[in-house]
Amino acid sequence: MSDEPIVQMRQIRRSFGDSPETQVEVLHGIDVTLNRGEMVALIGPSGSGKSTLLNIMGLLDRATSGSLTIAGQDVAGLTDAQLTKLRGETLGFVFQFHHLLPGLSVGENVMLPAAALEGALRASQLPRAQVLLEHVGLGDQAHRMAGKLSGGMQQRVAIARALMNNPAVVFADEPTGNLDTESSDRVMELLARWNRDRKTTFVIVTHDPSIARRCPRVLKMVDGHLVGDGPPEDVL
Ligand SMILES: Nc1ncnc2c1ncn2[C@@H]1O[C@H](COP(=O)(O)OP(=O)(O)OP(=O)(O)O)[C@@H](O)[C@H]1O
Ligand SMILES: [Mg+2]
Repeated sequence: MSDEPIVQMRQIRRSFGDSPETQVEVLHGIDVTLNRGEMVALIGPSGSGKSTLLNIMGLLDRATSGSLTIAGQDVAGLTDAQLTKLRGETLGFVFQFHHLLPGLSVGENVMLPAAALEGALRASQLPRAQVLLEHVGLGDQAHRMAGKLSGGMQQRVAIARALMNNPAVVFADEPTGNLDTESSDRVMELLARWNRDRKTTFVIVTHDPSIARRCPRVLKMVDGHLVGDGPPEDVL
């Protein structure tokens, strides 16, 4: 594994609006470098641009200007198909609402990212899905319909799914925002353990200071600017 940063953003700007007169800039030139193995919290008030920044890093949205490299690849020159491939092979996602497919089994849901790369659900993907389900404490749930699980369990399935393609970096937008304290502690523990054992980079958007404190590095956004970057004791 190389030492180059996994994410490098330079002067990233993002504007929304149909015409030059109605354009509003919501990210005002963000510089961020994320190294392999980092566990990073992204905090800031509602509307400060956290999700917009995460979606650009995650190749779900394109910046209006600035440069972004992911795993050493400058994304500016990539076609949508190449972006989709890079996203599928290198990045994982966890959202506040897990977006599981309720009519598929838990195991099938976990296999979906591999199916997306390979073009079909394949039995050969099952053993890895099973290992991941064991990691999140759901090893005995693979055959249940996803829609039958509790919210906390579904979010743990979503974590297993995010790890399916062995991503170098996982982006989590308020992964515990919808969970009780016990379930969110459990989710954070799973992410931290995977980070420690596998050196996967995590970026976790959160409003909860107790979640941010569990991350060695905290980025703070206010009004589309990065105003803090350092250990939690300095930034929170
Ligand atoms: N698709 C869009 N079209 C227009 N404006 C948008 C769009 N997406 C985000 N914005 C605006 O960009 C700003 C930043 O939004 P963003 O969702 O990134 O904030 P956030 O920090 O994630 O907030 P929250 O904590 O509420 O999730 C807000 O003013 C928002 O209204
Ligand atoms: Mg948001």
